[in-house]
Amino acid sequence: MYDYSCLKGKTAFITGATGAIGGEIAQSLSSAGVDLLINGTNLEKLQQIKDKLTTNVHILDGDISEQSEVERILDQSISLGKVDILVNCAGVFPQKPISELDTSEYQKLMNINLNAPYFLSVGFSKDMIKNGWGRIVNIGSASSYGGYKNTVAYCSSKHGLLGMSLAMHDELKEDGVRVYCISPSSTQGDMGLATKGQDYSTFLDPKEVAEYVLFAISQDGNAMSQEIFIKRMHLR
Ligand SMILES: NC(=O)c1ccc[n+]([C@@H]2O[C@H](COP(=O)([O-])OP(=O)(O)OC[C@H]3O[C@@H](n4cnc5c(N)ncnc54)[C@H](OP(=O)(O)O)[C@@H]3O)[C@@H](O)[C@H]2O)c1
Repeated sequence: MYDYSCLKGKTAFITGATGAIGGEIAQSLSSAGVDLLINGTNLEKLQQIKDKLTTNVHILDGDISEQSEVERILDQSISLGKVDILVNCAGVFPQKPISELDTSEYQKLMNINLNAPYFLSVGFSKDMIKNGWGRIVNIGSASSYGGYKNTVAYCSSKHGLLGMSLAMHDELKEDGVRVYCISPSSTQGDMGLATKGQDYSTFLDPKEVAEYVLFAISQDGNAMSQEIFIKRMHLR
């Protein structure tokens, strides 16, 4: 068991909290004594997650592919108090050749996977800077590093997320705000089940991904892992 004491009493905002990875991150943060604001579009699932957690949890449902919703969620969250930790975990993963992905699907994907993380980071980092302490975690992917057919838009968004994380860390580090891109390879859950052409039995357990996230953000010294690429031992 690692020492997560620097996280106790903090507040985290998590997108994608209804998903496989976001749900485990929510669980792990709550177990470490972190209060939560959780986002997703599925209110019923958000309520089920809230019921399982032991710290204070606010539900802020909303579709983050809409800029007006991102702004509403930000305003509502900030009115509830400071957010110390932002986890950008929501994501969509359409698998289609470029000739079949229409403009609105492309734009929606970019809004969810890249633009919302940017605007949420800008919004929440203001208080983090004021307080001299903050953590922003962007959930990347193996597609932050590689390029794969039929997922061109997804790979573009995840490469963008990695670049954004590195640049934002460089800009905010003097203010005590650390920005991470934590990139799992294929992981079990609904998105994992929809992944074509790979052996699901070799996929990461989302709990393992959550452990890496907690380990990374609980480091409060000079050492800092800006990017963590979580590969599978057995790739099939
Ligand atoms: N699973 C994998 O194999 C894998 C591998 C590498 C990286 N990742 C990345 O890890 C992250 C989480 O993946 P996962 O496996 O947990 O996926 P998941 O189980 O499919 O969950 C996706 C999450 O994104 C949320 N979401 C999707 N569209 C949204 C929208 N318009 N507005 C608000 N929330 C929205 C969903 O919320 P609702 O259902 O409530 O709308 C859900 O909570 C993603 O960024 C993904 O790209 C996944």
